[in-house]
Amino acid sequence: MSRSAHPAGPRHADVMAEGHYTAPADDLNVLDEKVWSRTVTRDEHGALTVGGIEVARLAEEFGTPAYFLDEADFRARCRAWADAFGPGADVFYAGKAFLSRAVVRWLKEEGLNLDVCSGGELTTALDAGMPAERIAFHGNNKTVEEIERAVAAGVGRIVLDSFQEIVRVAHIAQRLGKRQRVQIRVTVGVEAHTHEFIATAHEDQKFGIALAGGQAAEAVRRALTLDGLELIGIHSHIGSQIFDMAGFEVSARRVVQLLAEVRDEHGVELPEIDLGGGLGIAYTSEDDPREPGEIAKSLGDIVTRECEAAGLATPRISVEPGRAIVGPTAFTLYEVGTIKPLEGLRTYVSVDGGMSDNIRTALYDAEYSVALVSRTSDAEPMLVRVVGKHCESGDIVVKDAFLPSDLAPGDLIAVPATGAYCRSMASNYNHALRPPVVAVRDGAARVIVRRETEEDLLRLDVG
Ligand code: LLP
Repeated sequence: MSRSAHPAGPRHADVMAEGHYTAPADDLNVLDEKVWSRTVTRDEHGALTVGGIEVARLAEEFGTPAYFLDEADFRARCRAWADAFGPGADVFYAGKAFLSRAVVRWLKEEGLNLDVCSGGELTTALDAGMPAERIAFHGNNKTVEEIERAVAAGVGRIVLDSFQEIVRVAHIAQRLGKRQRVQIRVTVGVEAHTHEFIATAHEDQKFGIALAGGQAAEAVRRALTLDGLELIGIHSHIGSQIFDMAGFEVSARRVVQLLAEVRDEHGVELPEIDLGGGLGIAYTSEDDPREPGEIAKSLGDIVTRECEAAGLATPRISVEPGRAIVGPTAFTLYEVGTIKPLEGLRTYVSVDGGMSDNIRTALYDAEYSVALVSRTSDAEPMLVRVVGKHCESGDIVVKDAFLPSDLAPGDLIAVPATGAYCRSMASNYNHALRPPVVAVRDGAARVIVRRETEEDLLRLDVG
């Protein structure tokens, strides 16, 4: 990863030579609003506040580690996506990023739909009152039982992921006396990476049905013949944490091409296309995410243009942002424990959580920011690696960052942009207790997912 060099002292020489860390901000006390949720600020004593509440108070009441979710920001982001796409399109929040009953209620109130990909997510959605017709059911290996539940509940769409599943869903729907609305997920031959995309001649991954070799066209052919199915459109999801719209352009163009082929072969104009999720967010000051308005315009323009060229009516577009909605709305609050300076290298700062509450750094080499939030400090910046308390050297939360050199055990530090894929991918490794999610709004904080207890662990252990 390209990183600017920082004129730090000689003790950082080795790390500088590696060149893979972000230079410290001029003032470590200044919070970069790109990576923090909207209501985060520092109060007159220098302590970070969210939703008007100071972190020390939050830590005292809810303990650490904990995720604090800025509800006003979450709702604002939902509205921004819904407004940007307008009444002629549908926004499905991808529940895999983070799902709880409170979140489902917020989505419902803000007019969004919900994409689920397991029986557990479906249950949470229905239990919290999301109307079934506003739910899309995804997954490359939905079980028969999951499909039965989804069809019986009357979900708005099931996204079919394989030839076998086309038949499976059709049979189940027929058996239940229903005609299930479905989309077919295609792989368009675009492999998206962070900051770039590579067009691939051949797909080599488990999701979807390839456009290549006419496979997707064959899937459409089969789906159209089955009574239990109402084929409403084509779905494509090209990847995650993407900043470059070029991959979406290629994807939209190829999906529209398939719609044109379907029209030519069957005389049917499929009314919908879903372009998936995957829009990137700022984890560090170096990331520059797109605004929903820009994304909506860019996708809308491409689809309209391609459809006009193909003589098709513009289909209804849907998108499935997960990270872009929930990611920036939460931070993880940790208490600093052991601090270990390694001469000539960096200082290891251990916190009371780790890879059990944020596996993304270990899994994807993901980058995060970190700040001292219980106070300000004018001490010199020191290069740190924020690590957890797990029995593994890869247990890294923030690989390379700067914190003030007077950092001490008991200080509170926070890692922003942990709303997506942190709690939802949390584990009990080393019998860690998964942290709570606390929603903060207008001076009030409430637990929406409680902290696990040792009793929870023992309750599952029935041997
Ligand atoms: N739609 C489909 C069909 C998906 O598979 C996904 C994500 C999304 C929407 C939402 O993507 P988002 O807008 O959140 O990028 N655990 C990884 C991300 C895995 C994403 C899986 N699918 C991470 O932590 O980066």
